[in-house]
Amino acid sequence: MVAAPSGHENWSSRGAFILAAVGSAVGLGNLVRFPAEAGTNGGGAFVLFYVFCVVLIGLPVLLSEVLIGRHGQAAAPISFRKIAEESGGSKAWGTVASLGVFSAFLVLSFYCVIGGWVLYYIGLFAQDIVASGATSGAFADQSFEQVDSYFGGMVSNGVATSVLDVGFVGITVFFVARGVSGGIEKVAVYLMPAFFFLLLGITVYGMFGGALSRTVDYLFTFEPDKLSGEVMLAAVGQAFFSLSLGVAGMVTYGAYVGRDVNLASTSGMIAGADTAVALIAGLCIFPIVFVAGLEPNGGLGLMFQTLPHAFSDIPFGTLIGLAFFIMVGFAALTSSVSLMEAPTSWAMERLGLPRVQAALGVSVAASVLGVLCALSTGSLSSFHPLGFIPMFEGMGVLDVLDTFTGKLTMPIGALLTAVFIGWVASRRLLDEENGLSGGLHRFWLFLVRWFCPLVLTLILFGGIFPETTGQMLGFLSGG
Ligand code: PHE
Repeated sequence: MVAAPSGHENWSSRGAFILAAVGSAVGLGNLVRFPAEAGTNGGGAFVLFYVFCVVLIGLPVLLSEVLIGRHGQAAAPISFRKIAEESGGSKAWGTVASLGVFSAFLVLSFYCVIGGWVLYYIGLFAQDIVASGATSGAFADQSFEQVDSYFGGMVSNGVATSVLDVGFVGITVFFVARGVSGGIEKVAVYLMPAFFFLLLGITVYGMFGGALSRTVDYLFTFEPDKLSGEVMLAAVGQAFFSLSLGVAGMVTYGAYVGRDVNLASTSGMIAGADTAVALIAGLCIFPIVFVAGLEPNGGLGLMFQTLPHAFSDIPFGTLIGLAFFIMVGFAALTSSVSLMEAPTSWAMERLGLPRVQAALGVSVAASVLGVLCALSTGSLSSFHPLGFIPMFEGMGVLDVLDTFTGKLTMPIGALLTAVFIGWVASRRLLDEENGLSGGLHRFWLFLVRWFCPLVLTLILFGGIFPETTGQMLGFLSGG
């Protein structure tokens, strides 16, 4: 453990920070959300615009978040307040980060529910290997309907989903409670290389199946007329979720970064790795789906229904299926750890709690909310707590949390972060911290001052009034 000047813990090296931040970024967003969104949003048009969003919006905001944390060396709200004070801005900026910390808590609550389902599938495939060996296709002696019913059965079973959710929260807190270098960093340092190994292994396996060229066509054929307003908004939203932005998570991780680290190049590596994983995930998943003669469907069904069917049709399907869900579990865990660390560090510094108690408190609260999600997908499926608000009409708790954070609090958090760095933080401070010089420095300032706030306002507007915004953008892009 390396003590920082303020007495709190730091990452043991730059490499450990990069792995932890990549671990936070790479998660269900890359493996489930990205392929599904690319599939339903016109393939190549979405993918190309996504990369554009990562470079011009995601990366500048990522650098801003890490910079705020590194300068503040404290929990996110305190880091914001410190920079505001040094720059002559209002102390109220601390509240922006508090909103982020709260969003991280909300995302954590439903993320662990999905993490729990991943645990269930690991169990299913492990059981299948024991029953029918590693070489056959998965669920060889079961009917299509039977394989299909696993997902529905689990989602509608509120009690089982709750138990699995609490299990996933438990695994997460086990590491968060051990601290930055003793727990959070360890998960990333061991699991991220294992993740990459599994991802590349399964991708190479899929390439031999014969559906690679169809996948490449599907993901990368650029048809400009498909670039509608809705597709653009989906791409920007996905870039945010995938880079873990707008929830104070990267500010929190930045607080453990030493003075000697160049933040610009490190942020570039994090964003690059995250984008590479999203693209490789597409090349990993679709060949398996296509070879099995299936059509990819959107949302969680792609991972929890289509893929299990696909694994039942390929040689070594049980083994590949098990490896696949273990890989997803690793990615989800390194993300949930970062989601838990943001509120935990807040509780430690604000409420003066020791780390273990802070992490346990966050876990109990997230479990309560998670159980509510579980019950509302199961026995309380007609429970629509915020159904009177049009945006949440017909939604259970899990979907309300997903929509509320994805379409409101995350873009608001990122928008305010860009405004804070672009307009409030002193130039001298930015100069000292950001690791950029010359034209790139000016370009970054332009992006955080003008471009990011503008585009983020549009995403927010688009999240709240999808139809009007979709039409406006469609009109502008000629689609
Ligand atoms: N980026 C993570 C993913 O892609 C999700 C996440 C969002 C993690 C926000 C931390 C903070 O799954």
